[in-house]
Amino acid sequence: MKIQVLGSGAGGGLPQFNCNCDNCKAYREGKKSVKRRTQSSITLSEDGENWVLFNASPDILEQIHNSPFLHPTQKRETKIKAIVFNDAQIDHTTGLLMLREGCPHQVYCTKEVNDELNTSFPLFKMLKHWNGGGTFWNEITPDNKAFEIPVMPNHDFYALPLISNAPPYSKYRDTPRSGDNIGLVVHNKKTDKKLFYLPGLGVLENHVLEAMKDADVILIEGTLWTNDEMIKGNFSSKLGTDMGHMPLNGQGGLIEILDTLEKPRKILIHINNTNPILDEENDEYHELISHGIEISYDGMSIEI
Ligand code: MLT
Ligand code: MN
Ligand code: ZN
Repeated sequence: MKIQVLGSGAGGGLPQFNCNCDNCKAYREGKKSVKRRTQSSITLSEDGENWVLFNASPDILEQIHNSPFLHPTQKRETKIKAIVFNDAQIDHTTGLLMLREGCPHQVYCTKEVNDELNTSFPLFKMLKHWNGGGTFWNEITPDNKAFEIPVMPNHDFYALPLISNAPPYSKYRDTPRSGDNIGLVVHNKKTDKKLFYLPGLGVLENHVLEAMKDADVILIEGTLWTNDEMIKGNFSSKLGTDMGHMPLNGQGGLIEILDTLEKPRKILIHINNTNPILDEENDEYHELISHGIEISYDGMSIEI
């Protein structure tokens, strides 16, 4: 399985249009130790020709432009043959609008996400007006039972319920349902290797820890360094955990959890522009790296 990171940033990306935090400022000033990051998304392929997209970010057109393997080779075609959503967040779904000329798309998501995308943020309903189809909804149930995606016949996909949060626009904000957020495990049946993808995690439950132990590669959120980072920096009045994001640092943080895992390669994604690990000159970057944790970047390739 080929895994390509299309975007490694959290909502807003880096630089965020209205942000002048240390990282956004440093990037605009040309500091080499801070990278540009579009909003989080990965794409997977078995044959290098047909791709399954995990989340469609608002930056999808730039991401496709920067990824020659996604360029059409027929007069009109898309190499993205299926789209899977972890949740209905704006930074994970809005890109579907930018892909409207390629409708209909095969979309895989839970019934809770399908519900949001037909009501509160009615992308699916709107897209019905393009090419007479919009999207074909394939239901995922977060029950850890295998499902299949035809363009990756040698892989099994599993959805696990995660406790995070429903989108800010949702009536379920702060009271998320099972199915509002899922983690995805992709098992390569030929190599017997597993990817675990979870770009948002608010609470570590035991079944999530078990899936982490079993994975060969974990791509996990690294949104914030500390839980009060957005409050301290005067960027927001919310804690990370209020937004459904566990911090990396401190007691009970993600670094402490990842430290207990021996088998997997541990790679962060969905990293907010305020996070000090995003400047390679910072102590926090060096501390993270000393734990054997990697930071994904736009254009990163992984093969398992
Ligand atoms: C999140 O990850 O919490 C969301 O993407 C927030 C947002 O919509 O900006
Ligand atoms: Mn997000
Ligand atoms: Zn910023």
